[in-house]
Amino acid sequence: MTKLAFLGLGVMGFPMAGHLAAAGHEVTVYNRTAAKADNWVARHGGATAATPKAAAAGAEMVFSCVGNDDDLRSVVLGEEGAFAGMAEGSILIDNTTASAEVARELAEIGKKQGIDFIDAPVSGGQAGAENGALTVMCGGDAEAFARAQPVIDAFAKAVTLMGPSGAGQLTKMVNQICIAGLLQGLSEGMNFGLRAGLDMQKVIDVIGKGAAQSWQMDNRAATMCTGKFDFGFAVDWMRKDLGICLAEAKNNGARLPVTALVDQCYAQVQARGGNRWDTSSLMNLLAKD
Ligand SMILES: NC(=O)c1ccc[n+]([C@@H]2O[C@H](COP(=O)([O-])OP(=O)(O)OC[C@H]3O[C@@H](n4cnc5c(N)ncnc54)[C@H](OP(=O)(O)O)[C@@H]3O)[C@@H](O)[C@H]2O)c1
Repeated sequence: MTKLAFLGLGVMGFPMAGHLAAAGHEVTVYNRTAAKADNWVARHGGATAATPKAAAAGAEMVFSCVGNDDDLRSVVLGEEGAFAGMAEGSILIDNTTASAEVARELAEIGKKQGIDFIDAPVSGGQAGAENGALTVMCGGDAEAFARAQPVIDAFAKAVTLMGPSGAGQLTKMVNQICIAGLLQGLSEGMNFGLRAGLDMQKVIDVIGKGAAQSWQMDNRAATMCTGKFDFGFAVDWMRKDLGICLAEAKNNGARLPVTALVDQCYAQVQARGGNRWDTSSLMNLLAKD
């Protein structure tokens, strides 16, 4: 049993922290909106704290899962931030999808205090978080990772150290780049089939057993055809992630023509009011008016 803190009880953090408690760890939670933290304790036990610093005090490992780079800085740095409460030898494991730059920045600051920082973004969505079956891509020190991995296992089906600080976030960027183009292709295929008058369930059943198969096809193609876009990962989050990918590509020289185009398609989805629709809503732009 390890003494842990969890910062950020959103769609992802709430169930992830729940799995850590269910694994027998002693968990103190912090959430900006305190009602969610009270709710979490009512369900899982443990304790709440009023600030990230107070939650992190005495914890061997601190988890964070907030929105973006600036949100992460606001819970980690400053007088009331987690680093201010953490002891030498403790580890901060960040599950936010953020830039590689902020991961390196926080790892550097932590190091000066003897705190390890592991960037550990996740894939698998709300369902993966609720089922404790996330994929976790980590960047950081190998010895700290070896200590953290058995704890992270509570909410994961795969936990992999990808390299030094930032490597977890870079891997998550590859994940998002692969998904963006694929979803546009899937949308175009489904829309084409509908306009051709095909029975799309039959189409999905047959081509889903061939080379066009993908997780998105298995899980989203049928609902895309009926215009349902309320299955998790929101367009606003995807635009945040694609912004991170496009900024990183400026650093490493990678060309991302399709990713840039799909990012603009998502901007159009937002303009239609689809901020909270899921990422398969690219289909909506192709649908008949
Ligand atoms: N949802 C998914 O399917 C999914 C999948 C993979 C990765 N992710 C990534 O995981 C992260 C969290 O996603 P989510 O879906 O859990 O988001 P969410 O439901 O919007 O939750 C965000 C959490 O961060 C907290 N927060 C945001 N800004 C903060 C700030 N400045 N200071 C303190 N707390 C702050 C929020 O507190 P309040 O309750 O006070 O607002 C909330 O607890 C994001 O980086 C997202 O890209 C999400």
